[in-house]
Amino acid sequence: MSCSRSCKLCGEGRSSVGKAQETRYSSPLRYPGGKGKVANFVKLLVLENSLIGSDYIEPYAGGASVALSLLFEDYINHAYINDINDGVYCFWRFALEDPDSLCRRIMTVPLTIDEWRRQKLIHSSMDSSPEDIGFSTFYLNRTNRSGIVSGGVIGGTGQAGIWKIDARFNREALCSRVRKIAGYSSRITVSKVDAAEMIESELVRGRSHRLLYLDPPYFVKGEGLYDNFYGFEDHRKVRDAVSATPGPWVVSYDAAPEILQLYSQHEPLRYTLSYSASRASKGTEVMYFSPNLLIPKVASPAGISVAEVTKAMSAATLF
Ligand SMILES: C[S@@+](CC[C@H](N)C(=O)[O-])C[C@H]1O[C@@H](n2cnc3c(N)ncnc32)[C@H](O)[C@@H]1O
Repeated sequence: MSCSRSCKLCGEGRSSVGKAQETRYSSPLRYPGGKGKVANFVKLLVLENSLIGSDYIEPYAGGASVALSLLFEDYINHAYINDINDGVYCFWRFALEDPDSLCRRIMTVPLTIDEWRRQKLIHSSMDSSPEDIGFSTFYLNRTNRSGIVSGGVIGGTGQAGIWKIDARFNREALCSRVRKIAGYSSRITVSKVDAAEMIESELVRGRSHRLLYLDPPYFVKGEGLYDNFYGFEDHRKVRDAVSATPGPWVVSYDAAPEILQLYSQHEPLRYTLSYSASRASKGTEVMYFSPNLLIPKVASPAGISVAEVTKAMSAATLF
């Protein structure tokens, strides 16, 4: 089911820690607020806190770009990715359990408005199989504007725009990503539970050598971006649960005044991030850390180059 680590099809093999790479585009899913741009910062955090080889837990995984980046470069041992959205969950299961079949569909599915309509029906039908739900989620994510599954198709249904339905659907590149991920299937566990439940679980509470990264739905725009979004009370519950969590954790958010207030007991690290979802180009985000973490001193978590990670890695291996 899963391809070998030096897969002939994708031509990509497993890299080892110390070979920092540009893995920002590792995820097959496009994600509004995707955190690929902070992956290099998380690598610095792992290095600075001697968390190399630990388990990594992401209860709001979405496109899981940080998890994949850490895994592909062997910063972590195992990635636990969780998302309550059934389509996202089914997609990850499909990619890990039957990449050949998923890739066959990616290579042959028509990129037409008729097919887009068909995938929408599949996505909303109660009778669809898990594979069909996973594939329709992927299809709509890749053919809709900003990757919003419930949104409109790129180019409009009249396909009159400059960009058409196939603009984000490079079949070979997407299959290559799927196969690379499947090559790591023994080191990825996918689940679909409420994030709060995961934070309370033995997986998080019973282990000290692990990193918990929470990227909850945005406070301000969450409702328009994700099928599963949060109200203020939900955000407060997450704050309470994570604050009571013993081991290392990181939380990232849009820097809404309500979030700054909720986390006022913790030191904020603010930065700007490009949002492909809103085309408003940039938004201010904020990260919070558990008190036991050493925070890398950087100008912005979203602007860490591969060279900086390599330098930190060399320094870490000297000691
Ligand atoms: C901000 S996005 C995560 C983006 C991700 N960090 C990335 O880089 O692609 C938030 C995700 O949380 C999921 N989600 C929303 N409510 C949830 C809940 N209660 N439990 C688990 N996942 C949830 C959404 O389906 C969405 O995929």
